[in-house]
Amino acid sequence: MEFVNTVICGDSKNILGTISDNYVDCIITSPPYDNLRTYKNKKEHEAYEFDFKGIASELNRVLKKGGTLVWIVGDEVINGSETGSSFRQALYFLDELKLNLHDTMIYKKNSSSFPARADGNRYSQIFEYMFILSKGKPKTANLLCDKPNAWKGWLGFGKMKQRERNGQLVEIQRNPVPEFSPRTNIWKYATGRNYSSSDELASQHPAIFPEGLVGDNILTWTNEGDIILDPFNGSGTTTKMAHLLNRKYIGIDISEEYCNIARKRISTGVREDSFAIDFGDDIDLSNIKKNWK
Ligand SMILES: C[S@@+](CC[C@H](N)C(=O)[O-])C[C@H]1O[C@@H](n2cnc3c(N)ncnc32)[C@H](O)[C@@H]1O
Repeated sequence: MEFVNTVICGDSKNILGTISDNYVDCIITSPPYDNLRTYKNKKEHEAYEFDFKGIASELNRVLKKGGTLVWIVGDEVINGSETGSSFRQALYFLDELKLNLHDTMIYKKNSSSFPARADGNRYSQIFEYMFILSKGKPKTANLLCDKPNAWKGWLGFGKMKQRERNGQLVEIQRNPVPEFSPRTNIWKYATGRNYSSSDELASQHPAIFPEGLVGDNILTWTNEGDIILDPFNGSGTTTKMAHLLNRKYIGIDISEEYCNIARKRISTGVREDSFAIDFGDDIDLSNIKKNWK
């Protein structure tokens, strides 16, 4: 209880153990990905050595019935093969912890940290998996309806008829195509320094979420007043966005330095244009940049 609206420094395995069962409405997180990055307090190649099974089981325990776990993850390539850790983790939640694999979504970036070379053998890595897991049926799903419809207002060709109980065919009114529909399950954001966040502080962390990505998940899977947990809170994108969107938050990270950044970021604002940048095929970065101060 005393953890609500705090950023706590420690190993999630231990800290989670002190949180009550069925306590949080939503978990939004990305664990350390294989050995892709080196974080504070960890030597290179130790970054991935967190207790996945122990933490996964604690996350399952603290999540409320109907709560949602957003697990955002990618794989390293080792000895010419992707590790497949992302799939193994998703299947562990599904098979062993009996969470629903509600939706396998894609977080797509506009640029790649590992661009392909013409003489290489692998295309540019441009996405991460965003596994949406839920404890039973999700209790909240406010689908974001911001995919513009080219056919808005269209009533269709010809007349539509429906057979009544007495066998008579009667003409029925079609509903016009709405201006916007729910987006697809591939979400695309501009990433990198100054794109993911306008907080200069955040760039001290090597792997921050775009604020828009977290904001959109919060708006979809939670309501105001809900408690959101990030057990690998890093620079605090989840805790900042939860606070900004009138949700409660609990952030945990093993690095005191990252926790301090996260605490400072709670009170910083967000660019209006950091939400929902793009749901079509192209991002016009010149437009986004124009609005920056
Ligand atoms: C992928 S980063 C998360 C970045 C975060 N999403 C953001 O926007 O800044 C993973 C984080 O997990 C932290 N970490 C690694 N092992 C941990 C553990 N056992 N308990 C808590 N945090 C841990 C690292 O310090 C790192 O900041």
